[in-house]
Amino acid sequence: MRPRYKVVGDVALVRLRDGEDPKEVVDYLLGRLPRLRAVLAYEGVGGELRLPRVRLLHGERPVVTRYAEHGVVYELDVERMMFSLGNKFERLRVAALTRDWEVVVDAFAGIGQFSLPIAALGRAVFVHAIEVNPEAYEYLVRNVRANGLEGRVRTHLGDCREVTKGLEGVADRVVMGYFPGTIGYLDAGLRALRPGGGVVHLHDLVEGGSEEEYCARVVGGVKERGYDVRLLRTARVKSYSARLDHVVLDLLCLPRRP
Ligand SMILES: C[S@@+](CC[C@H](N)C(=O)[O-])C[C@H]1O[C@@H](n2cnc3c(N)ncnc32)[C@H](O)[C@@H]1O
Repeated sequence: MRPRYKVVGDVALVRLRDGEDPKEVVDYLLGRLPRLRAVLAYEGVGGELRLPRVRLLHGERPVVTRYAEHGVVYELDVERMMFSLGNKFERLRVAALTRDWEVVVDAFAGIGQFSLPIAALGRAVFVHAIEVNPEAYEYLVRNVRANGLEGRVRTHLGDCREVTKGLEGVADRVVMGYFPGTIGYLDAGLRALRPGGGVVHLHDLVEGGSEEEYCARVVGGVKERGYDVRLLRTARVKSYSARLDHVVLDLLCLPRRP
């Protein structure tokens, strides 16, 4: 049976099936993709920092690779930080939605998966990119530089719940590309919006069939915080597991006037 794998740059990530021989899988992949530098067994991501659970099957450490998408180059250490290929369309969609002169806060920037295409595709967009994991942050800074975007992306190392206290009222658009439990970060996202309001892209994991209930909970949470809210769009980014979907809600949040 053909192995289940994805390729990021010159690295393959394999989801091994029960009983599948790792050596046979590596031989299969190197036979077909001779330029692969490393092969890792991938068992998902976990913890608050969404760190990958991987095991090196072939190649040498550090497993640093370069991956190009939508005209942006990302460098990452595949053992220490994640890059979801399944979010490819979503990255382009949000970048295309962002208009010139917008200020964007990317509350969970990772290595720049949203910040970089938003800044690169918009002609006069400014992005504040917040990342709490120092290792991912190091690559975020490196990627901003490698793409020549220092003038359009300001990086912030820290927890978005704290960092946004210094970014109050700056953003036309806030990207909250994180899960699960993203609703717990709503205060941070809303705080960053301009006094006149703006759009929040809120990602989360939602059980199949409970999308409506989830949207109602988010809309209710935004209203409770003093906003009129319009759910502009809700969509499935990808299937996450048999039970859970990765969804994104676009919320137009306008502060209620007294
Ligand atoms: C799942 S990754 C997603 C990166 C990117 N937003 C995307 O959607 O592809 C989430 C990132 O958020 C970071 N993170 C987690 N909690 C955070 C917090 N409270 N403040 C800022 N960054 C955080 C993690 O370290 C990780 O790099």
